[in-house]
Amino acid sequence: MKVAPSILSADFGNLQRDVEEICNAGCDFVHVDVMDGHFVPNLTIGPVVVSAVAACATKPLDIHLMVENNTFFVELFAPLKPEYISFHIEEEKHPHRLIQKIRSLGIKPAIVLNPHTPPESIEFLLKNLDMVLLMSVNPGFGGQSFIDSVIEKASRLNVMRNKINSNCLIEVDGGVNDKNIKLLKDAGVDVVVAGSYVFKNSDRKKAIESLQI
Ligand code: DX5
Ligand code: ZN
Repeated sequence: MKVAPSILSADFGNLQRDVEEICNAGCDFVHVDVMDGHFVPNLTIGPVVVSAVAACATKPLDIHLMVENNTFFVELFAPLKPEYISFHIEEEKHPHRLIQKIRSLGIKPAIVLNPHTPPESIEFLLKNLDMVLLMSVNPGFGGQSFIDSVIEKASRLNVMRNKINSNCLIEVDGGVNDKNIKLLKDAGVDVVVAGSYVFKNSDRKKAIESLQI
């Protein structure tokens, strides 16, 4: 299991220290939550702060867009060369076109599904994607409880991708901790995002390692 700590739960007064700490602790990606105050009722960070994160991160960035105008934000963050940019299917009229655009910028495209969105909604996009991110909380805030219907959703998505021999990864975001990690692993999940579980832990390295099962 790969682990992408979400810097939403980091100490923003010591952001460089926290980003360096999780990278040195062996995380696999640095998860960056971009919220615009419209798609979700919260506002986070833009390219000025994310470029500072990119400058001190020694692990690839996984940018999770929670915004209304996906194309605008893709263009804004592309120069920072993240590994992944993920956008919400619920907010995109032309997902196939946007996937092509992200790939043309040299970035791996990913789609995010809110808790109510079935995996079948992206069946005909799956072969074009490098990752699908399943929300296990309602997007907008860290520290919420895990919605366990994501386990069945991940299992169904796992069957779907195996059927087409896809290498697309399955990522789960929200409320992930050492109690639900085994269930996620058994459902076929490849990457977990963990915000509060990692950053509120006094031993962040140990917290990351406890999820890398
Ligand atoms: C929620 C964000 C998550 C969040 C996860 O909208 O997408 O990445 O930071 O935080 P925890 O792990 O605390 O649920
Ligand atoms: Zn996220």
